[in-house]
Amino acid sequence: MRISVIGCGYLGAVHAAAMAELGHEVVGIDVDERKIAALAGGKPFFFEPGLPEILSSATASGRLRFSTDIAEAAEAEVHFLAVGTPQSAETGAADVSFVDAAFTALLPHLADGALVVGKSTVPVGTAGRLAEQLGSDAPSARLVWNPEFLREGFAVSDTLSPDRLVYGVAEGDDHAASVLDRLYRAAIEAGTPRIVTDYATAELVKVASNAFLATKISFINAMSQIAEATGADVTALADAMGHDDRIGRRFLNAGVGFGGGCLPKDIRGFIARADELGLGDTFAFLGEVDEINLRQRRRVVDLAVQDLDGSADGKRIAVLGVTFKPDSDDVRDSPALDIAVQLQGLGADVVITDPEGLDNARARVPGLASVPTTREALLGADLVILATEWREYRTLDPEAAGRLVGERRIIDGRNVLDPAAWRAAGWHYRGIGRS
Ligand code: UDX
Repeated sequence: MRISVIGCGYLGAVHAAAMAELGHEVVGIDVDERKIAALAGGKPFFFEPGLPEILSSATASGRLRFSTDIAEAAEAEVHFLAVGTPQSAETGAADVSFVDAAFTALLPHLADGALVVGKSTVPVGTAGRLAEQLGSDAPSARLVWNPEFLREGFAVSDTLSPDRLVYGVAEGDDHAASVLDRLYRAAIEAGTPRIVTDYATAELVKVASNAFLATKISFINAMSQIAEATGADVTALADAMGHDDRIGRRFLNAGVGFGGGCLPKDIRGFIARADELGLGDTFAFLGEVDEINLRQRRRVVDLAVQDLDGSADGKRIAVLGVTFKPDSDDVRDSPALDIAVQLQGLGADVVITDPEGLDNARARVPGLASVPTTREALLGADLVILATEWREYRTLDPEAAGRLVGERRIIDGRNVLDPAAWRAAGWHYRGIGRS
């Protein structure tokens, strides 16, 4: 099928490449010339395992091309809207101005009977509004809302083999679903569950899922504080709770908390939208989920100061990992980076390292010292903080690491190290909510 993907950021670039990988003819459109130039050359402008391979093979085959000119989308029968919806600084709401701008720019280029597919994460009600506009400006075209659930680090496989497909369609529109079925034939034949519903439900599935995941993480982080106050162990607690199928073990890892481009932004956007709908009280708990999450970062800073005998001033602190999670170069709303900045603010001599995230971290916080290797970061450190659980840090040898540092003190901000092994090597080990 001939498709266009409008907005070639994280979501759009992966989606465009994955659709071409499935055999479709794809044009990716973005207003950012640098992004388009990189993608057209077969090179992603961000780190995502598996993406360089499918991007370069699709661009080389001619099935995937990129342009800054939206008129190039005119031949497509399906148009994906994949532009960003950043958090607005004043209200916390999701800013849909890029969605509106892309949609308006696309309207004059829609062929007869074209399908517009919304992928961006939007406040509930947006799809209905856009469908109305489509009804008056391009009545033969249709709109469907098809949220995307990809995780960074697994974006390619999540797109090629999603765990569910959600189509929000206009009442009585069977055609839109059948077009998407053709497009996603491989996933459907593989038995992927498919939910066809209305616009509002489809929009809500995305934010509700992210709000639920965030709540799960903040719940276990709150439990980590109780564990610390009572001598319990939050990891064993999560293991035992997780054996209950109704609860499940995933997303019950206590630590420095969640970050990234989705979870924090989506819960804030959801709170703002619920407020507009007069449901602010009902969703006030999500404000607490956000607050618990931010408190985890402050707690790690407090624990660091405590471990440094009451003052971080002038102490050398090695922060291992700055991305919001491993296998990503994304430092947006990263707890690790936030902790490093807070400690630097207390006068510590902080040095960060990360396998992929240093360029982005330097661009965001130019004043933070960074080194490319773990070895350099550890040299002479008074305290080590494992802030992002990259494999390289999870598998650190306590004895070898101990020979590099000034003081054998570590805060395991992701609860991924073996406390007994680190203590046996003479380290003052502290996890989050671990006895
Ligand atoms: C998330 C959703 O998972 C995905 O479905 C959606 O499409 C986009 O947002 P992503 O932002 O890539 O994906 O990250 P995710 O893997 O969900 O992790 C989010 C954050 O939670 C990370 O900072 C991670 O370190 C943290 N986390 C996750 C925990 O602190 N504890 C856990 O148990 C799990």
